[in-house]
Amino acid sequence: MINKLLPLLVFLALCTPVLAEDTVCLQCHGGQEGRLGAPVGLWKTSVHAANGISCHDCHGGDPTDFGTAMDPDKGFLGAPDYADVPAFCGRCHLGVREDYSGSAHGKALGKGGPQCVVCHGNHAVQKASIELINKESCTRCHSYERAAKVKTAISQTEDSLKMLEGQIDELHRVGIDTKKISGQLFSSRNDFRRLFHTVDVEEMRAETAGFTTRLDKIGAQITVIKDELSQRKMVGGLVVLLLIVGGCIAMLIRKSYHEEE
Ligand code: HEC
Ligand code: HEC
Ligand code: HEC
Ligand code: HEC
Ligand code: HEC
Repeated sequence: MINKLLPLLVFLALCTPVLAEDTVCLQCHGGQEGRLGAPVGLWKTSVHAANGISCHDCHGGDPTDFGTAMDPDKGFLGAPDYADVPAFCGRCHLGVREDYSGSAHGKALGKGGPQCVVCHGNHAVQKASIELINKESCTRCHSYERAAKVKTAISQTEDSLKMLEGQIDELHRVGIDTKKISGQLFSSRNDFRRLFHTVDVEEMRAETAGFTTRLDKIGAQITVIKDELSQRKMVGGLVVLLLIVGGCIAMLIRKSYHEEE
C-alpha cells in the first residue's frame, strides 16, 4: 500500500512550497465577488503565479495577517494609477523599465502613451513573445504601419532564437549536457526581448548585428557537438561492421577447415 502511495507522497511534498503560498490575500479575495475577486482567477493563469510571484509581491502588505494585511504601515501599496504602473512593475523588471522610460511610449506616458498593463494585462500576464505585436493591440492609438516595421526589425532574430532553441532541445533529448549552451541562449534571448520597449526601429536594426554575432557563436557550438555525435555514430558503425566482417571470416575459415577434413 505504502509503495503505491509513495509517488503521490513525493508529489505532494514537491507541491508543498506552492501550497504554503496560500496567503490571507488569496483566501479573502478568493471569496470576494466582482473586481475584488476576479484578480485571483486571472492571476492563477499567469507567468507570475508560475514563478511564485503572488499578490503581496506586487501590491505589498502583510500576507500572513488578516487584520493588518492591507495596512500601508505594512508596505501595502494599493492599486497603482495608470501613470504609476511602469514604476510599479519596474521594481522587478529594471532593464525593461529603463528601455521603456527612454522610449517614445515612455515619454508619452500621461499624454496617450501605453504603459505595461496596456500591452501585457495586469493579473493574467503571460510569457512575452513577438505575438504581442498585433493589429488588435497596436492600432488602438496609431496606425499599424509603425508596429509592422518594429515587428519586421526583430522577426529575423526571433526566428534564429527559435531555431537554436529547437536544436538545443534535440541535443538534450539524445542525452547531451546542454546546460551551458542553454544558459548562453537564455541570456541572449532576455537581452534581445528587452529591446522591443525602445520602439525605436533604428536602434533595433543597429543592435541586431550584435545579436546575430552572439547567436552565430551559439550556432557554431551546436555544429561542433553535432559533428562529434555523427563521428561517434560512424565509429560505432565501423566497429559493428568490423565485427560482422570478422565473424564472416571466422565462419569461412571454420568451413574450409571442416571441408579439408
Ligand atoms: C479580510 C479580507 C481581505 C484581506 C485579508 C485582503 N484584502 Fe485586499 N481588499 C479587501 C476588500 C474588502 C477590498 C475593497 C475595500 C478596500 O479597498 O478596502 C480590498 C481591496 C484591495 C485592493 C484594491 C485597492 C484599491 O485601491 O482599489 C488591492 C490591490 C488588494 N485589496 C490587495 C490585497 C493584498 C495584496 C492582500 C494581502 C497582503 C489583501 N488585499 C488582503 C479584502 C481583503
Ligand atoms: C504582476 C503584479 C500584480 C500581481 C501579482 C497582482 N496584481 Fe492586482 N493589480 C496590479 C495592477 C498593475 C493593478 C492596477 C490596475 C490596472 O491598471 O489594471 C492591480 C489592481 C488590483 C485591484 C483593483 C482592481 C480594480 O478593478 O479596481 C485588486 C482588487 C487587485 N489588484 C487584487 C489583487 C490580488 C487579490 C492579487 C493576487 C491574486 C493580485 N492583485 C496580484 C498588479 C498585480
Ligand atoms: C506597446 C506594448 C508594450 C508595452 C507598453 C510594454 N511591453 Fe513588455 N513586451 C512587449 C512585447 C511585444 C514584448 C516581446 C518582445 C519580443 O518578443 O521580442 C515584451 C516583452 C516583455 C518582457 C519579456 C522580456 C524580458 O526582458 O524579460 C517583460 C518582462 C516585459 N515585456 C515587461 C514589461 C514592463 C514591466 C513594461 C512597463 C515598464 C512593459 N513590458 C511595457 C510589449 C509591451
Ligand atoms: C515582485 C517582482 C515582480 C513584479 C512587481 C512584476 N513582475 Fe513580472 N515577473 C517577475 C518574475 C520573477 C517573472 C518570471 C521570471 C522571468 O521571466 O523574468 C516575471 C515574468 C514576467 C513576464 C514574462 C517574461 C518572459 O520571459 O516572457 C512579463 C511579460 C512580466 N513579468 C510583466 C510584468 C508586468 C506587466 C508587471 C506589472 C503589472 C510585472 N511583471 C510585475 C517578477 C515581477
Ligand atoms: C495607448 C496608446 C498606444 C498603444 C496601445 C500603442 N502605442 Fe505606439 N505610440 C503611442 C504614442 C502616444 C506614441 C508617441 C507619439 C507618436 O509618435 O505618435 C507612439 C509611438 C510609437 C512608435 C514610434 C516610435 C518612435 O521612436 O518614433 C512605434 C514604432 C510604436 N508606437 C509601436 C507600437 C507597437 C508595436 C504597439 C503595439 C505592441 C503600440 N505602439 C501600441 C501610443 C500607443
